[in-house]
Amino acid sequence: MHILLGVVLSLVVYCAARATQSEKTCHLRPLGHGRDDTDQVETAIARCGRFGHTVFAEGQYNITRKMTWSLTESKVDLHGYLNFKPDVEYWLNANNTYRVVFIQSQASWFVITGNDFTIDAHNTGGINGNGQTWWSFYGNRSRSDGDGRPISFTLSNVTRGIVKNFRIKSPPFWCNTVAQSKDVVYDGMYCNATNTDPLYVGQNIVPNTDGIDTYRSDNVSLLNWDITCGDDCLAIKGNSTNIVAKNITCRGGNGIAVGSLGQYIDLPDIVDHVLFDNVKLIRLDPDVQPNLQSGVYFKTWTGTVNGAPPTGGGGGVGYVSNVESRNFHFDPVNAPIHLYQTNGGHSSDAPSQLQFSNLTFSTFTGSSLANKIVDLECSPAAPCPNILFQDISVAPPSGQGESFVCINVVNESGLPGPCNATGKA
Ligand SMILES: *[C@@H]1O[C@H](CO)[C@@H](O)[C@H](O)[C@H]1NC(C)=O
Ligand SMILES: *[C@@H]1O[C@H](CO)[C@@H](O)[C@H](O)[C@H]1NC(C)=O
Ligand SMILES: *[C@@H]1O[C@H](CO)[C@@H](O)[C@H](O)[C@H]1NC(C)=O
Ligand SMILES: *[C@@H]1O[C@H](CO)[C@@H](O)[C@H](O)[C@H]1NC(C)=O
Ligand SMILES: *[C@@H]1O[C@H](CO)[C@@H](O)[C@H](O)[C@H]1NC(C)=O
Ligand SMILES: *[C@@H]1O[C@H](CO)[C@@H](O)[C@H](O)[C@H]1NC(C)=O
Ligand SMILES: *[C@@H]1O[C@H](CO)[C@@H](O)[C@H](O)[C@H]1NC(C)=O
Ligand SMILES: *[C@@H]1O[C@H](CO)[C@@H](O)[C@H](O)[C@H]1NC(C)=O
Ligand SMILES: *[C@@H]1O[C@H](CO)[C@@H](O)[C@H](O)[C@H]1NC(C)=O
Ligand SMILES: *[C@@H]1O[C@H](CO)[C@@H](O)[C@H](O)[C@H]1NC(C)=O
Ligand SMILES: *[C@@H]1O[C@H](CO)[C@@H](O)[C@H](O)[C@H]1NC(C)=O
Repeated sequence: MHILLGVVLSLVVYCAARATQSEKTCHLRPLGHGRDDTDQVETAIARCGRFGHTVFAEGQYNITRKMTWSLTESKVDLHGYLNFKPDVEYWLNANNTYRVVFIQSQASWFVITGNDFTIDAHNTGGINGNGQTWWSFYGNRSRSDGDGRPISFTLSNVTRGIVKNFRIKSPPFWCNTVAQSKDVVYDGMYCNATNTDPLYVGQNIVPNTDGIDTYRSDNVSLLNWDITCGDDCLAIKGNSTNIVAKNITCRGGNGIAVGSLGQYIDLPDIVDHVLFDNVKLIRLDPDVQPNLQSGVYFKTWTGTVNGAPPTGGGGGVGYVSNVESRNFHFDPVNAPIHLYQTNGGHSSDAPSQLQFSNLTFSTFTGSSLANKIVDLECSPAAPCPNILFQDISVAPPSGQGESFVCINVVNESGLPGPCNATGKA
């Protein structure tokens, strides 16, 4: 009797606690110029990030140290910007960022983790990365992977997370990363890495400002993205499966990438079931951003280990299969469809054993600055079966014939002309 009463009582208390928690709402507004908002942001998320609702009013929130939001069954309305202080030396101290993204030991200053949450930034908020300070700082310094430049927005160990109408201004480095996560939807993402320092007119001073890198993640949707960058607009890295990207605009940069893969000799990279649908690549004023390199491209390291990650590597195995690219428009690009397996390598290296198969390309329009419309250079150690093209009508430069190159491709069909080692004249 007493035991039963105890159980009933504790159930009542537990349910009451849950009920109160689910009604919990935290409201924030920026403290104003010269003040530090980091404490109030962390306090609000600690109180309302689990079974609660956090509402940020519009404005700039001054964030002065690394931050993790652990969200469970929670909603965040981020009407304003988390403004990460522009202090390069501070953030480059490895103690001041997280290293939750394994690949290339990349740093993060802001990590979201947890499950069943929605972050809605209403197209009025998100992150201000103050990237200009970084780009100018690195204008005459060398950069390398893993050197501590922080990813602006990292989702790590997330299950069923939604990010909506989110804006990332001036990312110093990769704009987004999703790692070790599943069932994630990004609907509405804006990133803009545009140099305005007159010292660097006409140069790509915003390298590595990828729109997103996906890694060790399953079932991720990237919908309605607008990315201005100096590097990969989207980069699908190792162990990314069931990835859907739809309605993607890329302004400048290197295009849509699958890779690089095969950097880690002890970690096979698998990329399976990826759809890119409705992708526009727009060339910018070359004074602002000279690059618009590839349309969609695939890259692996060679079969030889050349140094160690984060900067070196190679020799990794794995496969890429069932990648569909459809409805692409080029404005124009240099290399519309490209695959190579020699990243970071030398001509004497062993060929990569990482195999590409079942790649389809359909409904490609626009133009190319080079006449090589298709350039697939598969590894002799892993020739590519089942490469299917449909409605590829990308115009070569005027007066030049288009050429299609397929090296070590087992089985290909659907191009308007033959695809072989030297292509059509
Ligand atoms: C951010 O907070 C710091 C104090 O931690 C302050 O020195 C700095 O001026 C603030 N920045 C802005 C833009 O308000
Ligand atoms: C990082 O933190 C460790 C442990 O507190 C400390 O020993 C080290 O000096 C710090 N490194 C830097 C560069 O500040
Ligand atoms: C990932 O999140 C789950 C709950 O969402 C937690 O149980 C687990 O410990 C987390 N793993 C890591 C490596 O953080
Ligand atoms: C790097 O460029 C800055 C201007 O952005 C200049 O002040 C500095 O002297 C340059 N440093 C070197 C080593 O060239
Ligand atoms: C993929 O994730 C979405 C969003 O969380 C979810 O609705 C859907 O059921 C997931 N698909 C699978 C096959 O699990
Ligand atoms: C990106 O930022 C630059 C510099 O502020 C601006 O000129 C450009 O219009 C922005 N691009 C988009 C698509 O908003
Ligand atoms: C495509 O995405 C852009 C944002 O990048 C959005 O403004 C536009 O409405 C989207 N188009 C469709 C058809 O959803
Ligand atoms: C990818 O998944 C496979 C199979 O689960 C695993 O063996 C491999 O180590 C993973 N690779 C990476 C880069 O995590
Ligand atoms: C490639 O597609 C064929 C035909 O649909 C299928 O049988 C095969 O399993 C696929 N290969 C991979 C690696 O998924
Ligand atoms: C060649 O590719 C087509 C479609 O891409 C596929 O149906 C066929 O089975 C492949 N044949 C061989 C021998 O791999
Ligand atoms: C490419 O293919 C076409 C048609 O099959 C053929 O006429 C041409 O000789 C081939 N070129 C090479 C270098 O194999």
